Amino acid sequence: MDATARKARKAAVGTALPHDSAHLHVSGRAAYTDDLPEPRDLLHVAVGMSAKAHARLRSIDLSDVLDAEGVVDVCLAADIPGENNCGPIVHDEEILAADTVEYVGQAIFAVAARTVEQARRAAQLAKIEYEELEPILDPLAAVEKDSFVLPSETLTRGDPAAAITGAPRRLQRRITIGGQDQFYLEGHISMCTPQEDGGLLVYSSTQHPDEVQHLVAKATARAAKDVVCICRRIGGAFGGKESQAATIACIAALMTVRTGRSCKLRLDRDVDMIMTGKRHDFVVDYDVGFDETGRIRGIDFSFASRCGISADLSGPVNDRMMFHSDNAYFLDNVNIESHRCKTNTVSNTAFRGFGGPQGMFAIEYAIDDIARTLGMDPLEVRRRNYYGVGERDVTHYGQTVEDNILDLVTDKLETDADYRRRRAAVREFNRANTVLKRGIALTPVKFGISFTSTHLNQAGALVHVYRDGTVHLNHGGTEMGQGLYIKVAQVVADELGVPVSAIRINAADTSKVPNASATAASSGSDMNGKAAQIAARKIRTRLTEFAARHFSVNESAVDFGDGRVSAGTETLDFAELVQLAWFERVSLSATGFYKTPKINYDRSTSSGRPFFYYAYGAAVTEVVVDTLTGENRIVRVDIVHDCGDSLNPAMDLGQVEGGFVQGAGWLTSEELWWNDAGELQTHAPSTYKIPTCSDLAPEFNVTLLENAANREDTIYRSKAVGEPPFMLAISVFHAIRDAIATDGNPLPALDAPATPEAILRAIEGMKP
Ligand code: MTE
Ligand code: MOS
Repeated sequence: MDATARKARKAAVGTALPHDSAHLHVSGRAAYTDDLPEPRDLLHVAVGMSAKAHARLRSIDLSDVLDAEGVVDVCLAADIPGENNCGPIVHDEEILAADTVEYVGQAIFAVAARTVEQARRAAQLAKIEYEELEPILDPLAAVEKDSFVLPSETLTRGDPAAAITGAPRRLQRRITIGGQDQFYLEGHISMCTPQEDGGLLVYSSTQHPDEVQHLVAKATARAAKDVVCICRRIGGAFGGKESQAATIACIAALMTVRTGRSCKLRLDRDVDMIMTGKRHDFVVDYDVGFDETGRIRGIDFSFASRCGISADLSGPVNDRMMFHSDNAYFLDNVNIESHRCKTNTVSNTAFRGFGGPQGMFAIEYAIDDIARTLGMDPLEVRRRNYYGVGERDVTHYGQTVEDNILDLVTDKLETDADYRRRRAAVREFNRANTVLKRGIALTPVKFGISFTSTHLNQAGALVHVYRDGTVHLNHGGTEMGQGLYIKVAQVVADELGVPVSAIRINAADTSKVPNASATAASSGSDMNGKAAQIAARKIRTRLTEFAARHFSVNESAVDFGDGRVSAGTETLDFAELVQLAWFERVSLSATGFYKTPKINYDRSTSSGRPFFYYAYGAAVTEVVVDTLTGENRIVRVDIVHDCGDSLNPAMDLGQVEGGFVQGAGWLTSEELWWNDAGELQTHAPSTYKIPTCSDLAPEFNVTLLENAANREDTIYRSKAVGEPPFMLAISVFHAIRDAIATDGNPLPALDAPATPEAILRAIEGMKP
């Protein structure tokens, strides 16, 4: 069925249905992990954390902790019955530090008590003697000392050195890009309940229940079959609960195993920010050669990222950074060096965009510098370097960009946002004003969709049809607010020709759908939508065969829609057909399995097709900056974004708006700051500033590209939307840069985040 036919049939797919839990969210009845009914014997867990950035643990005295009111038990590394590891890929991170602590906030012990307050208070009473060691606190120091969590990687195409030196013009710069805390509203949490005969049931606020199941099993010396992990919804994750939720679940499970009682660990905001990983901050050096038209001849990047104490997801995050340091631009002579620095700070992890934003930020900075050096409109330089169609279309990792719609998106946005006229008006404004300065920028996004580790691109689903014609839906994806569950329900509804209200959406549950990948890389609806469609289609096929037999018609004469089934001249309710089929012993339950086609990547040659397709978008942002204080406001944002044929335009719009605002926070106000002792000083909203409603642009126009069917065979030709819009916010940064650049000094050295302080520093730095 194409989009028009679906509309005629009142199909669910493509409709702007509200989030399935919207009515529960707004009335406070949506049950998050902490809202689940508490078992009678529940204990609350708190974590004792390292006070030092790098030290040997000389002695740990927990007698006062054990004596504290309400305390039932404590657990140290040595008490762990299984593997003391929560490293998801590389087994290099301890759940509880055994001999050495490597960052301030690292978990050393856990304590279980009757109330949350008792546990948290008791955790403060440990007497720990440290033998301090030299810490490494930033990526550059790590590079100097060869301190890495993983080997450095390089990706080279052409002859960048020769291209750069042979180019008519050349620029070099070092930029720093700040990290970011995920700042989900619901902090990390897990509750574990003992089951009979050694079994464990783990409720976890996790993007990856399968990994929680496996890591809990290993830590508690069990097999995967003995552990079930369930997650109905997450109160925001943004990548922060992809790997690191497992640590929290492991600690809760270890206390459950020790005490034989249900245990819940909920981190408060400060502990959450101190103890769990964030977006990687980077230091980037680039060296670019270009010609007078603004075209890049050759570019060399050296990236150093703060990975913290362990590999966690830093390998794939940095890989994605390397894959995205082209953004929308064809780089035929390029060298990208990536250092994955080991520092004595919390282990950094996934965050929306997964390295992509940092790579794209770097190339956008270089492009902007080129334009300003040549006195050109940066948009002209962007366009001059865009990937071509049918030429200049192979990425530096060997994938051909087959679906390039950069010109289409840019043309539309340039017109819709009235870019040219407004750019002239901004120049006019700046000539007339000395203190307030305006700036405007248009930046594009091209973002690759798929996990870069090919094997992760698989998904499963489980669909039951009950005798009354209602449907029970499970798949391996997790709901973190992004609207995945309603989208998949829409797909199943259309497959069975029933309304969405006939479907019960169920929690992610490792006992129903096994071996699921994390809900990440924006691929949740692509993969789980297809898996659920395959499962539902199996049932529909059986029902079709049955109806054809039963009513003596051809299978082609059987049709499903609007809760009804027609078979030749007969029509009946879906529930009636189901009842008849059940009576004739037709199976009404099925699993679905999907693996993303066409993708492959060979690490040894750094080439292949890591991405099934690309998602595109572009944004124009206009800002006004007070050049005496550095304060700034976004005054208008225009976005054109490509969601393919949207499964649900309401959800997609929310993702575009939310992603953009979160990206703007990353690049303007959210600043992570560690002191010289390696203590994170910004661990609460009082010191760490995320955007609020009042930071929203008063004019915020978002258009989802229409008639933009994905050329690849994705679920209803839609495109993934979770992460790509985040990077539209790079336009905010360049609008600020545009505002503070002057004719005499077109190249302000502005670092990210562009806080008022950073803006003032850049303005000061330009003074002669
Ligand atoms: N939207 C909300 N509301 N909450 C979230 O935690 N996470 C983002 C994005 N959008 C997130 C969100 C991230 S990091 C990813 S990878 C995708 O959602 C994951 O979901 P999807 O694959 O279903 O798009
Ligand atoms: Mo998203 S950073 O891939 O969880």
